Order: sequence, then structure tokens, then C-alpha cells
Amino acid sequence: MDNEFKLMAAPLQGLTEAAWRSVHFRLFGEEQGDVEYFTPFIRVEKGEVRKRDMRDYTSDLNAGMRLTPQIIFRDAEEWRMLVDALAEAGSTRIDMNMGCPFTPQVRKGRGAGMLAHPDMVEEIAKAMEGYADSIDFSVKMRLGVNDASESLSLVDILNSMKMRHITVHPRTATQQYKGELQLDAMDGFTSRLKHPVVFNGEVSSPSDIEKLTSRYDGVMVGRGLLRRPTLFAEYRSGGELTAEERNEAFLSLIGRTASVLEQRLCGATQLKDKMKPYWEYAPETLDRKTVKLGRKNGILQ
Ligand SMILES: Cc1cc2nc3c(=O)[nH]c(=O)nc-3n(C[C@H](O)[C@H](O)[C@H](O)COP(=O)(O)O)c2cc1C
Repeated sequence: MDNEFKLMAAPLQGLTEAAWRSVHFRLFGEEQGDVEYFTPFIRVEKGEVRKRDMRDYTSDLNAGMRLTPQIIFRDAEEWRMLVDALAEAGSTRIDMNMGCPFTPQVRKGRGAGMLAHPDMVEEIAKAMEGYADSIDFSVKMRLGVNDASESLSLVDILNSMKMRHITVHPRTATQQYKGELQLDAMDGFTSRLKHPVVFNGEVSSPSDIEKLTSRYDGVMVGRGLLRRPTLFAEYRSGGELTAEERNEAFLSLIGRTASVLEQRLCGATQLKDKMKPYWEYAPETLDRKTVKLGRKNGILQ
């Protein structure tokens, strides 16, 4: 299993968009080309596939990388609109979000909201049959909305789907992005699945990845990769970089992402606002003054 262990960069709205992905890929992934990137979820808004989301997927910045678009949907109708739009744009892989814990989405039955509606998941499974020859699907999910055992009621439906893998974040939606990972519940769920399983959650060091290789088929990393953009490169090389080298890598990624965005956004204020969230993931070892200025101004001084 180790040989084929997959490395995946998680989707994060507002962060792992085309500019960040393209710079990360060129700085830390291009040579190996073994990282699969995922777009933040693409959604339907006011009865249409959101154009901004589609632009992120069709951007010229994505050239050369292995990129999979992710969709979020409330029912089979939204699902079909999104899948058709992506198929038309040339996609042959689509990831389905069944884990977003954001309350307004969950209440409407999207993201983790799907987990409480096995009947709806079953409808999606039926819709998938019509696309089995043209699209490779995958699912990214949590263990439930309020209770981790909710995932158990989805085992048969998930197993009936034809798909590449299931990525599991071992928390409930209520836990959001904090609190203990429910690893026992995850084991109970994934041991019943026939699909390859990708682990997602709180992975932050090469040794964290090492610990997963014998049990899972891959790892998907979100915040850990924002904090430590060299994480996959370090894991591959079998040696860790120094804190100083990692700080440099972080700053270089931030600086270049800002340069790419500068060409595409309108004005300094937009650029600053877009860059600020990246500083929330500054490594702890980075000079505090630099981080403080970054949080305030977004861009490097
Ligand atoms: C700001 C933010 C935005 C996110 N956006 C998405 C998204 O668009 N699609 C998705 O599947 N997950 C999204 N996630 C969840 C992450 O992909 C990931 O599952 C989560 O952060 C746990 O993994 P980590 O501990 O490696 O960060 C988001 C998380 C954060 C913090």
C-alpha cells in the first residue's frame, strides 16, 4: 500500500484557490507531480452554477497540475447541474462534498447536511450510475452531523457507488474544525467500506504522514499544508527541513501568491484582503513582528 500512498492538498475556500495552488505546485510539487489538488467547493447559486467557482477550476493557472473539482449540492438536481457543467468543461474526476459543517449549508442539506439524509444520498447514487463511464467520482465526508454513528447508516449506499476513494475527516459537523478526532468511530466506519480510504485531519508533520501509510490509501492535508507548504516534499525526501527553511518556504509561497493575485485583482485593498487569511497559518517559529504586520496588511512588507 505504501508505494501507492496518495498525497492530496485539501480544498479550503478562500485559500487553496488557483493562485495559491499554482505557486505551491511550481515551488514544491511540479517535479514530482504526485500531489492531487482539489478546488474549494463549486456550488449552485440562484439557480446557476456559480461562475466565480467555475473560473477557479478553468483558470490557466491550473496548467500542468493534477486538479480535481469539488462540488457541493442539496439534491440530485443541483448535483446534475454541477456535474454536467464540469463534464462540459472537460473534467473526468469530481469530488463530492458531504462534510462541510457551515450551518447555513448544513441546514439546506448541503455538505455534512447530506449525512443526515440517506434517502438523498441514495438518489445521488442513482444519478451517478448515468455517469459511471465518463466521470471518476470521490467523496469527502465527516462521520455525521451530531453523532459519529450517522455514517454507519450510509455504508451500504456508499459501497453501492462506483468511486475512486472516500476521504474521511473523523469529526462530526458539530465539532467544526476543533475537538478530538474520533478515530475509533472512523475505524468502525471505514472497516465496513469497500473503497480506498483517504485520511484527513490535523496532519502537520512528515511523521504524522508516516503513521498513516500502513492503514490508509492516502492522506489529504489542509491547514497543515498552509502552515508547512513543504510538508509533502519533506515526507518524500525522508528528511525534515529546519524551522528557518520552512519559514522561508512559507514566506516565499505567500509572496509569490500575492504577485500572481496582484496581476488579477483590482487594486491594493482587494489584494490585502485576499492575502490576510494566509497569515493565520504562519508557522509558530516565524518572527512575530513579521506575522503581526502580515495579519494587518496581508502582504509582505
Ligand atoms: C477556511 C476553510 C475552508 C474550507 N473549505 C472547504 C471546501 O471548500 N471544501 C471541503 O471539502 N472542505 C473545506 N474545508 C475543510 C478542509 O478541506 C479539511 O477537511 C479540514 O480543514 C480538516 O483538515 P486539516 O486538519 O488537514 O485542515 C475548509 C476548511 C477551512 C478551515
